[in-house]
Amino acid sequence: MQSSTIKHLAIIMDGNGRWAKERGFKRTKGHEVGAETIRTITTYCAKHSEIETATFYAFSTENWKRPKLEVEFLMKLLDKYLKNELSTYQKNDIRFQAIGNIQEFSKPLQARIKKTEELTQNNSSLIQVLALNYGSRSEITSAVNKLISEGKTNITEEDISTHLQTPYTDIDLLIRTSGEERISNFLLWQLSYAELYFSPTLWPDFTANELEDIIQQYKTRTRRFGGIK
Ligand code: IPE
Ligand code: IPE
Ligand code: MG
Repeated sequence: MQSSTIKHLAIIMDGNGRWAKERGFKRTKGHEVGAETIRTITTYCAKHSEIETATFYAFSTENWKRPKLEVEFLMKLLDKYLKNELSTYQKNDIRFQAIGNIQEFSKPLQARIKKTEELTQNNSSLIQVLALNYGSRSEITSAVNKLISEGKTNITEEDISTHLQTPYTDIDLLIRTSGEERISNFLLWQLSYAELYFSPTLWPDFTANELEDIIQQYKTRTRRFGGIK
């Protein structure tokens, strides 16, 4: 039996707050350590022979509901992360792309995101996608609105797929950390036939070794896509 290949990995990075609370720290400390984990996992993915795209859920359209100070901290952390990460992207041949409604971010943060996308656009070992102010319902709704404004009347699945924010590729494997088992408005369309894996590990504790184990397990699964195998 041929094992399943993995081209597109998606991760819902959850559990930063609980990780910090368990240690008597502020929730923000969990986000800080969680950012380090993104670097470790991204670098692992760039070296992996099959993975072409790794999409990380960093801030949802619903996360604005959090206390103002936490949201402000996350915005600053993102800016700092992108500034510091540039050398990692260049060294490991990683292209950075953002999805989500980034026009709702501050102008300097938007500029940082655009600049990082431009500076890394020729890198090709991995595309690291950060979902920032991302909501899948919002993404699908925007795709439909774009099609309407183009005068489309008979909308096909292919039309929607190609009008989503990223060049469309199905997700092969979705991992959510922290033991929560839900999708939280992430990539609803792209996940249609993804294999799902829920890890009890809190995101700041997640390691490349655990990812490797999960990928090994994924490879033993039979993906039927509705057929019989
Ligand atoms: C995930 O960790 C990071 C973001 C959603 C920004 P959480 O902050 O949701 O951590 P928990 O779920 O409260 O532990
Ligand atoms: C999902 O985590 C969003 C991100 C990881 C960015 P949440 O912690 O916000 O999700 P819920 O509220 O528990 O579903
Ligand atoms: Mg959470």
